[in-house]
Amino acid sequence: MAVKDKVLKTLEQNQGKSVSGSSIAKTLNITRSAVWKAVKLLQDEGYTIIAATNKGYCLTMDNDIISDTAIKAYLRDESRYDIMVCKALDSTNTHAKLLAAQGSPDGSVVVAEGQTAGRGRMGRSFYSPAASGVYMSVVLRTGMPVSESLLVTAGAAVAVCRALEAHAGVQPQIKWVNDVYIDGKKVCGILTETVMDAESGSVEYMVVGIGINVRAGKDGFPGELAGIVTTVQEHVQGTTVSRNRLIAEILNQLDSICRRRTDTTFMQEYRSRSFLIGKTVTAIRADEREQVTVQDIDGLGRLVVADENGCVKVLNSGEISIRPVIT
Ligand code: BTN
Repeated sequence: MAVKDKVLKTLEQNQGKSVSGSSIAKTLNITRSAVWKAVKLLQDEGYTIIAATNKGYCLTMDNDIISDTAIKAYLRDESRYDIMVCKALDSTNTHAKLLAAQGSPDGSVVVAEGQTAGRGRMGRSFYSPAASGVYMSVVLRTGMPVSESLLVTAGAAVAVCRALEAHAGVQPQIKWVNDVYIDGKKVCGILTETVMDAESGSVEYMVVGIGINVRAGKDGFPGELAGIVTTVQEHVQGTTVSRNRLIAEILNQLDSICRRRTDTTFMQEYRSRSFLIGKTVTAIRADEREQVTVQDIDGLGRLVVADENGCVKVLNSGEISIRPVIT
């Protein structure tokens, strides 16, 4: 790791506090002048680092530049992930899929400061202005049967909820299967793309794409989005939400949820965070609309519903979209 990155890691781990140049120098086994040079380089890159005589260096709390170094500073086990951070991409999912097709390993992560063609489910786009959100995609090679793949999206939704709860103190809820809500508005969408191994019929790899509205971009949200989405920052007073910490916590949680395949206890939490269970909703498949009452989410992450005649059906996310009933 370059000296500049080592210094950034130390400052990031002490964000908001002053750390003396001599203690950084001692910990990293470098000279105080090397620390100073690294701080200058970081300031040139846009980091706000206050240097105060007799106090040292302080990375102020309003810094929120995403970097692999800063993400790693909060990972439980750095060796579990291989992280690439880009300024701008069309879509982190598209890029991660390309890398996975070329053989990149389980745990490869692509993060972008902004996306020019962020994608959502069912061919929709995902609004991804620069410096405002978390746009990340993780390559997973679980080798699971395709029938279980919905559990990965469910697991990712639980991972996002836990990370938001830990870092923003909010109580997020899940709208089956892939949306995370705060106070009735969408804050995060998840797009899981699966490539099957034709011979075994199991999953060759999956790309789990997570998009979180952390704060509104300078132009706010366009058109109808403005009324239906929210940001994490709206629910946090006084401090800047750190995207690096959020990303790292999601990765920590994904590691324990989605990469420990045999343990599906997280589905209990998924159910308890679901705001659809017990509600009457409109299920939309192609041009067909049907009112159904949601009874449960089964062990494979499918929605169990009863139609108007009381007939129970199991819905798979690939083919269906759910809307609240407008009365
Ligand atoms: C949805 O709301 O339908 C899912 C949105 C998923 C957006 C994320 S942002 C990171 C990754 N890259 C993409 O192009 N999409 C996902």
